Amino acid sequence: PGIWISDPSFMTTALASSAITYLDGEGGVLRYRGYPIEQLAERSSYLEVAYLLVHGELPDAAQLQTWTDEIRMHTYLHDNFRKRFLDGFHYDAHPMGMLVSGMAALSTFYPEAKDVTDPAVRRRQIIRMIAKVPTLAAACHRYSVGMPFVYPDNSLSFTENFLSMMWKVAEPRYEPDPVLARALDVLFILHADHEQNCGTLAMRTVGSAHADPYIAASAAAAALSGPLHGGANEQVLRMLASIGHVDNVPAFIADVKAGKGKLMGFGHRVYKNYDPRAKIVKQTADAVFEVTGRNPLLDIALKLEEVALSDEYFISRKLYPNVDFYSGLIYQAMGFPTEMFTVLFAIPRVAGWVTHWQELLEQDAKIYRPRQLYVGRESRDYVPLEQRS
Ligand code: CMC
Repeated sequence: PGIWISDPSFMTTALASSAITYLDGEGGVLRYRGYPIEQLAERSSYLEVAYLLVHGELPDAAQLQTWTDEIRMHTYLHDNFRKRFLDGFHYDAHPMGMLVSGMAALSTFYPEAKDVTDPAVRRRQIIRMIAKVPTLAAACHRYSVGMPFVYPDNSLSFTENFLSMMWKVAEPRYEPDPVLARALDVLFILHADHEQNCGTLAMRTVGSAHADPYIAASAAAAALSGPLHGGANEQVLRMLASIGHVDNVPAFIADVKAGKGKLMGFGHRVYKNYDPRAKIVKQTADAVFEVTGRNPLLDIALKLEEVALSDEYFISRKLYPNVDFYSGLIYQAMGFPTEMFTVLFAIPRVAGWVTHWQELLEQDAKIYRPRQLYVGRESRDYVPLEQRS
């Protein structure tokens, strides 16, 4: 027996001391390693941000080149993934389910990853994971639409290469639109880390048992797939499509207030103010729509935001748009199918997951093992089947 502090759903628990990401939910502030998200989104690139997260400092030019080369070196997947592993899925398998399984399967290709105590081994897996997950993600999409897989083109940037693996249909190469590639890179920066969210907690929990990082990241991706977490971006698009017209917005909001479903893409455990990522996503949408044409669902989203932000129900509960509210509109305008939206969240979040995993092991954290308040039956004697009524 002991005295346990009960905090269901970790409403008031600080899980760890962490030097990675700073989040002030009341002020709407987000910083990676001290750098404001707004500056990183405007001036950095996803790969540079991944370096920053993993190493704690921005790279100099030589370090960035080496890092980029290291990632490029590992973009290929073992060919059995293409020929055998993915081929086993049903034709309409959800790409997020394929990604979760594929990330766990990567573990079997790199048995050295089990030695989680060796920093050099850890670093190799960090690079492999950041490099290979986009290839796996694109392969999941190509499989689900019956298209041949596209090998990585390492002459392209990280994000352009992902777009090439998604969309390339003809030789010699895919020519990405620079505005769209930059917009996706910005979205990747915004999604790279978010301190102790549900997926990162899963990564840390499984990692604390010294399971290898592929298995741990697969658990994190599984958590991310949930509609209350990263899966919300997919649900937002389905919600906007089902509302169908701006005139239906007031009735939809009335239903939400009556408890008939949630306004997806709104609310956050930590942000009690406008999610700073959502602000940047909204600005990014304008640049994307210049190229792709305006997504007609944008008007419904803007109306939902306008109505919700002036409604007492949402004001009193401090419910604001979160990162998922506008991102799906961009993904859709860029041609991504709705099923890929959460996969697009997972690709950049890998940098955050592996950084938290590394920090946990560097801190020599003990295995995560909370207690509970037992509320079940007292001790009682087993009753043989024939004596039970
Ligand atoms: N629509 C309507 N009501 C809401 C919403 C919403 N989206 N979010 C919260 N509420 C209400 C909730 O019903 C509760 O009301 P009451 O006090 O009357 O019971 C109150 O606001 C507090 O909400 P909560 O569920 O206790 O808050 P939480 O911190 O446990 O949940 C959340 C946070 C993000 C899970 C929740 O806001 C939600 O389900 N939002 C919709 C899903 C979503 O957009 N998720 C993406 C989050 S950001 C990206 C990420 O995490 O990956």
